[in-house]
This record gives sequence, C-alpha cells and structure tokens, in this order.
Amino acid sequence: MPAAVRTWKQVVAHVREHRAYGPGFRWLELDVPAGFAAPVAGQFVQLLLDFPSPVLLPRPMSVASVAKRGARLSVGFLYAPVGAGTRALSELAEGASLHLTGPLGRGYPLEEPGTPVLVAGGRGVAPLLMAADVLARARRRCEFVFGARTAKLLVGLDEARARLAKRGSKLHLATDDGTRGFHGNVVQVLDRLAPRLEGPLVIHACGPHGMLGAVARWAMSNGARAHLAMESVMACGTGVCRGCPLPRSTEARDRVRAEGAQAAALKGNPDWAMCCTDGPVFESRELDWDRVE
Ligand SMILES: Cc1cc2nc3c(=O)[nH]c(=O)nc-3n(C[C@H](O)[C@H](O)[C@H](O)COP(=O)(O)OP(=O)(O)OC[C@H]3O[C@@H](n4cnc5c(N)ncnc54)[C@H](O)[C@@H]3O)c2cc1C
Ligand code: FES
Repeated sequence: MPAAVRTWKQVVAHVREHRAYGPGFRWLELDVPAGFAAPVAGQFVQLLLDFPSPVLLPRPMSVASVAKRGARLSVGFLYAPVGAGTRALSELAEGASLHLTGPLGRGYPLEEPGTPVLVAGGRGVAPLLMAADVLARARRRCEFVFGARTAKLLVGLDEARARLAKRGSKLHLATDDGTRGFHGNVVQVLDRLAPRLEGPLVIHACGPHGMLGAVARWAMSNGARAHLAMESVMACGTGVCRGCPLPRSTEARDRVRAEGAQAAALKGNPDWAMCCTDGPVFESRELDWDRVE
C-alpha cells in the first residue's frame, strides 16, 4: 500500500449553511479558504470549536459533499449531535467560524475496476453520498445498499436518490424492523443482489462496526473486495497521539513487519493500525474483525 501523501492544512472555516436534516441529524456546510485541498470520498476532517468551548479536542467528521465556489470550496457534513462537542457544533449560526484540519486519512479507492457497490448503515451514509457523486461524475453506475434499524434512521435518503438518479444507479433499502424496503440487513441484501451483478464486486461501506465486520466477512467469503470506513475516538487525527488503534489481521501484521523501516513514520505499529492515518478506510483483509470493537 503506498504511503499517504500529507496534504492537510489547518484553516479557519465559516458556516455557510446549517440546518436540521431529518430527526436527530443536521447538515453543516462550511466555506473553506482557497488552497485547501479537495477531500476525496472517505476522507475526514477535524472540527475544532473556537475558545471558549465545552470540549478541548477537535471532533472527526466525514466529508459528505464538496462543491467549488470560485477559487474556494464548500464542504458538507451530515452529523448527529450526540455529546458535548457535536451539541456545541449544532449551535453554530451561519457566518460563525471554527477551525478545520484536513483533508485527513485515506479515502475510498473508487477508481478500482469492477462493479461499485456502496453499502451504508444509518448516518454512515455521509461519505457514501459523496462517493455516489464522484462515481456519477466519472459516468459510472453503482448499486447503493442503504440499511438502518428503522425507516426514520435512513437519513439522507432523498439526497441519495437525487445523486443516484444521475447515472441510472440503483438504490436498495433495508430495515431491521421491515418499516421500509427489505425486511432484514444489508448482508442479506448483498446475498440477493450479488448473483445479478457483473463481477468483480468492489464494496465501499460505512456504518456501525458490527455491520462493517459482517460486510467484510461477506466480501472475503464471496471473492469481493471491500473497503470499510472505520471510526475510533480520536484526538490528533494525524498519527501523533497513537490514540485510535485498530487490530491488524495476521496478513497485514506480517506485511508491515516485512516493510520495516520503509513503513511511513506516522503509521501504526505491526500489531495495530492507526484509524486516522492507516485508515479510516481499510480493505477487509487489513483488520482482525474478531478483535474490532
Ligand atoms: C473518521 C470519523 C468520521 C466520522 N464521521 C462522522 C459523520 O460523518 N457524522 C457523525 O455524526 N459522526 C461522525 N463521526 C463520529 C463523531 O466524530 C462523534 O460522534 C463525535 O466525536 C462525538 O463527539 P461529542 O463531543 O459530541 O461526543 P462525546 O461526548 O465525545 O461522546 C458522546 C458519545 O459518543 C461516543 N463516540 C464519540 N466518538 C465516537 C466515534 N467516533 N464512534 C462512535 N462513538 C463515538 C462516545 O463514546 C460517547 O458515548 C466520525 C468519527 C470518525 C472517527
Ligand atoms: S487520532 Fe491521534 S493517532 Fe489517530
């Protein structure tokens, strides 16, 4: 795997738009200054509130959209206010400033040949909305499997529909309680869908770790590749604090040991990958899914 190229910057961003986005979720659009590198789908940024703030550390957030505004970019996020940091974020008014570091981490390799299958679980849809846009711009069709516990947690559904309509891509919904779409989970949808698709399948997924583990196992036993966007509680977001470890698979451990001194300085060690710099997107064979929490 090639070493990540460091392109991140710390900038002051301004709130362009901030609104409710379905029950319990919000959409935030930030204007960033010229010179900020355009994030790729699956990358994230760290958002740090101005002093005085209820939280000391920045909060990681996946990029859900990128739009060009002249020489500048606006970057969109879909998030749930769940604790002190995201609740304080939810109070920012239009025009307010905050500090943004990014783009960070490795994104999805959307250019990989094969049939792209995007798999989203709940608010994990955020980076996949952007992935759907990128594929549409590259004139590539995709299958979009979107699952949640119940219908109202299929957040961003209209946005997903709009982005998929551009290239005749297909949306497949699933809910655990059967309130919308297929009554079951995304892996059951993959089982039904796969025989109808041209191989090889290349899955790009984001959602709860339990779902990602199930998707990774499905891919490994069905000859597909899967790229999973993982989360971890993060402090620096840049590989320095070593606070976001994920367990490597035996295969990945052996490879990293063999790389030795060639391994980039800000990566994890042979046993543990750092979610922020080795990831957040990992191919299914990179992690030990029995030990992922
Ligand atoms: C790479 C990455 C991308 C992310 N993208 C998004 C996104 O697009 N939209 C979004 O809503 N959230 C996203 N998150 C999660 C988001 O960063 C956390 O919800 C946020 O940090 C919580 O901060 P807080 O101060 O509000 O809550 P805290 O008070 O810090 O925590 C509140 C609760 O949330 C839990 N929590 C905190 N961070 C995480 C996490 N990363 N994963 C699971 N549980 C967590 C805590 O354990 C606690 O139970 C992402 C996280 C990562 C690592
Ligand atoms: S968050 Fe500091 S090393 Fe990953």
